[in-house]
Amino acid sequence: MKILILGSGAREYSIALALKQTTKNLDLYFSPGNGATQNLGINLDTKDINELVNYAKENKIDLCIVGSEDFLAKGVVDIFKKNNLAIFGPTKAAAMLESSKIFMKNFLNKYNIKTAKFLTTGNLDEAKSFIQKLTLPIVIKADGLCAGKGVIIALTREEAISESKKMLSGESFGDAGKSIVIEEFLEGYELSVFAICDGNDFILLPVAQDHKKLLDGDKGPNTGGMGAYAPSHLANEELLNKIKKDIIIPTLEGMKKENKEFYGVLFIGLMIVKNEPYVLEFNVRFGDPECEVLMPLIKNPLELILASTQKRLKDVRLDLKDEFAIGVVCASKNYPYKNSEKSEIIIKNIPKNSHISYAGVSLENDKLMANGGRILVCVGLGKSLNDAKQKAYELCDNIHFEGKQFRKDIGFWAFKQ
Ligand code: AMP
Ligand code: GLY
Repeated sequence: MKILILGSGAREYSIALALKQTTKNLDLYFSPGNGATQNLGINLDTKDINELVNYAKENKIDLCIVGSEDFLAKGVVDIFKKNNLAIFGPTKAAAMLESSKIFMKNFLNKYNIKTAKFLTTGNLDEAKSFIQKLTLPIVIKADGLCAGKGVIIALTREEAISESKKMLSGESFGDAGKSIVIEEFLEGYELSVFAICDGNDFILLPVAQDHKKLLDGDKGPNTGGMGAYAPSHLANEELLNKIKKDIIIPTLEGMKKENKEFYGVLFIGLMIVKNEPYVLEFNVRFGDPECEVLMPLIKNPLELILASTQKRLKDVRLDLKDEFAIGVVCASKNYPYKNSEKSEIIIKNIPKNSHISYAGVSLENDKLMANGGRILVCVGLGKSLNDAKQKAYELCDNIHFEGKQFRKDIGFWAFKQ
């Protein structure tokens, strides 16, 4: 079977690795891929969707898996489907759950799904008057995709107003910020919930937890994610039932009513406030780095993905390993502020029950180079979360590149209970 994977991060690498490890006779292709996906398949030298369609037809690609939101927001699923090519992911219209925070918040309101109190606006005076009504801190979000950077938590009203102004004028995020969401700050803990969907039915994956801040103890600036673990025991049976009944089912039914049937991965970013799940955001693809800890736990990833594209998830079961996984992101020196110089990655040893998922790497004269923000993820597996953590950090200590930085406390929410 021939599979094309769209994206270039550790997320896409981890999907590829899991497919390779669980499926025979697989040929993988990546667009654009990275310096390490070259070891798992072939990197194509185009990201142009029409060129990818032609390539898929000419080379008889059986399935395309979309890793990254950018391709989805550009309508890659619509274009592939129009050409009778099988593809895993939501259409452009359904991807609005992620690509427009205004669409998402209005959708949540319409279908009575719990979320932070909010106003959506393109007008500074309206923004100012809503800001006066909220208690501090106040959350300001750009409507469109901003690679995880479009959310500001303002500690004063002055800051909330000035950030709103910068977004609305286009100064901070260009067109993506010309409409904004202003919302109340929710205090609790976050969980990442993933459901593989086929329009009607869904399969819930183990609940994961991301670590978005750069520094230990959830300090410092927001990042794309510095580490994750799964399954999280913070999601007990009662909470999981609420998530299914009050969020996932109404979302799939609502999307059908809106004529935007949802296929692919529904990723729900939740804030749990006094045991009640509130939706912070929807994403319409796997989380990164959550994917890197979910993939190694799933024994039948291809079966799930194919069943989603063929609308037959109700006939399929999730086959899981009885293990825990922790992923620690190793980032470059200046991440997330600015680029860092390239440097060679030296790997001394990869201990048993651990592996690397590669992200910002390039292959130059046969040398693997750190060349990006988040460079790679050290994944540890074990029968307990503690075992998994030890493995992940053992691997971290065996990897060297100039300026490597990583958090030392991935999983701390789980360990502090
Ligand atoms: P989002 O992209 O909307 O998930 O926001 C990015 C991060 O900002 C979330 O993972 C939270 O850590 C934080 N955040 C967003 N909205 C809120 C909120 N209403 N209350 C508290 N924290 C929030
Ligand atoms: N881990 C958060 C994200 O992928 O958006």
